[in-house]
Amino acid sequence: MEKIVINGPSILNGSVKISGMKNAAVAVVFATIAVNDECIIDNLPNISDINLALKILEKMGAVVEKIDENKYKIDTRPISTIMAPDEDVGKMRASYYIAGASLARFGVCKVGLPGGCDFGSRPIDQHVKAFEAMGAKVKIDEGYIDASVVGGMKAANVYFDCVTVGGTINAILASVRSEGVTVIDNAAREPHIVDLANFLNFCGADITGAGTDTIKIKGNKQLHGCEYTLIPDMIEAGTFMIAAAATGSELMIENVIPKHLESMTSKLSETGIVFEEGDESLLVKRKTTELRPINIKTLPYPGFPTDMNPQTAVLLCCINGSSRINETIFNDRFRYVNELKRMGANIDVDNGIATIVGGQRLRAANVRAVDLRAGAAMILAGLVAEGSTSIEDIFYIERGYDNIVEKLSSIGASIKKVQIQDFS
Ligand code: EPZ
Repeated sequence: MEKIVINGPSILNGSVKISGMKNAAVAVVFATIAVNDECIIDNLPNISDINLALKILEKMGAVVEKIDENKYKIDTRPISTIMAPDEDVGKMRASYYIAGASLARFGVCKVGLPGGCDFGSRPIDQHVKAFEAMGAKVKIDEGYIDASVVGGMKAANVYFDCVTVGGTINAILASVRSEGVTVIDNAAREPHIVDLANFLNFCGADITGAGTDTIKIKGNKQLHGCEYTLIPDMIEAGTFMIAAAATGSELMIENVIPKHLESMTSKLSETGIVFEEGDESLLVKRKTTELRPINIKTLPYPGFPTDMNPQTAVLLCCINGSSRINETIFNDRFRYVNELKRMGANIDVDNGIATIVGGQRLRAANVRAVDLRAGAAMILAGLVAEGSTSIEDIFYIERGYDNIVEKLSSIGASIKKVQIQDFS
């Protein structure tokens, strides 16, 4: 086992390159099941969630060939089973995209209920609603999503009761080969949904409206392979924006789509942080003034991302005064707070709203990553704290950040991975 050790406080400098978007990559990798041909996917982040997704496809019979660290050839024509390997499926929430893709291709699926980061209940009732609207009979029992449809998935009108990224993606996957036009209303608008739609359109699908709250999918039974490059990861970019802002550093963040970062740059500018946008880059200017406290509310895209809640809390701990984060997406996103409190953070959470009284420098401590973005927040806290911070359970961090230790080290952070004696 390993832990991350950081000596702070750090000043960062230079430039960092953002990797491909995790939440687009997992959707596109499993979408190849529905494409049923050979695809080449580029700009895949080198993270454990993607390695796991590729392993699941191979266990189902697909042929996966590594072209380089971030580029793979995936041929799903040989897939001969709809049974995804339980031991792997339970480790990652996005595994449930296998259900939508398998229903589209085979008219049947049997997928273990998803795992992933545990921040409260994460129901899948809207996924089931979409599948049933398309004619599938769905059973959720003994820990499986067990569904089947006679004569193929049907075009349908799906109205989601809540905005759901996963539900929107699964509805697109399940309908992409159906006869007729499926309409999804109250759809999620995240950039990774647009990326999935673009990938499937490169494969011969006819999807319009992705990125808006109404998406139309004109099914096509004859999809074909393609070569596709994924968008950069807006949450990784946001994490490095906070790293620079919290340490008072100037940092060039390359390989970004500034439009995707707008909710973060506009909100964080209210603290006094200055950003300079390039075509595919974002410069975080060195802090010249005292930053101001702000109030944030997480919302579905294009609102402020819930996946930036923990990281932003670290910045607010560094700002004199009282700030608030109102979390509206997940009912238990604040599991990181106890770990930050061990570092001296002054945070109270009540009814989904964290009140953060910042200004006291955080103190180094031994902490844990309790989920993916909480783990990233612990790294940021280690960068600003006085002393040596160690972070355990870093497997969470490695699920979604491509070489974050190497990237931070290359821009001046004193950070390394250390082997832990395993006495178990
Ligand atoms: C995706 O999770 C992301 N994961 C999450 O990122 C992200 O936090 C989340 O979207 C919101 O942006 C992946 O893309 C793999 P949702 P997902 O369905 O799809 C409720 C990360 O750190 N809901 O949009 O699970 C749900 O409880 C991860 O990269 C239902 O009620 O999120 C939540 O309150 C963490 N019924 C809200 O909707 C359903 O059937 C949003 O969930 C589905 C969801």
